[in-house]
Amino acid sequence: MFAAKAIESTEKAAFYRDLATQLKALLEGERDSIANAANTAALIFQMVPDLNWAGFYFLASDEELVLGPFQGKPACVRIAVGKGVCGTAVDLGMSMLVKDVHDFPGHIACDVDSRSELVVLLRDNDGVFGVLDLDSPTPGRFDKEDQAGIEKLASIYVSANSFED
Ligand code: SME
Repeated sequence: MFAAKAIESTEKAAFYRDLATQLKALLEGERDSIANAANTAALIFQMVPDLNWAGFYFLASDEELVLGPFQGKPACVRIAVGKGVCGTAVDLGMSMLVKDVHDFPGHIACDVDSRSELVVLLRDNDGVFGVLDLDSPTPGRFDKEDQAGIEKLASIYVSANSFED
């Protein structure tokens, strides 16, 4: 049985290194992409402080993201590419770090408590296939170190689904 271990470090880079090690252990030997997404969202929501939502949206077509496994309040199911923070990340092909969602035109408010948001891309050999989305009730909660740390976790998730045995 996997049990997440408390991370002592308050230094963000060290915190995310430790969390990456735990995520690798959690996903090791499992290739089911939905199960791995569910466990990735659960670990992030349990371990990363000050979140009110953490989860996945997957591209159902070139035009639309559809909700995947997540932790937090029920969320909007479909997001058009180019809309909201998630759809903009896919459209621009880059992570989005939104310090205050009230200042982001077109932000889609799934949870009125959300004040800042971090969206990173899920990318495999065929290109972008979804996003990993984190919301916080605290404005300015995420910085570049959070972005780098969550991008690493996203890449661990993507690799776990395609490991060779
Ligand atoms: N705020 C997102 C929508 C998803 S929820 O935050 C879970 C957006 O603007 O794309």
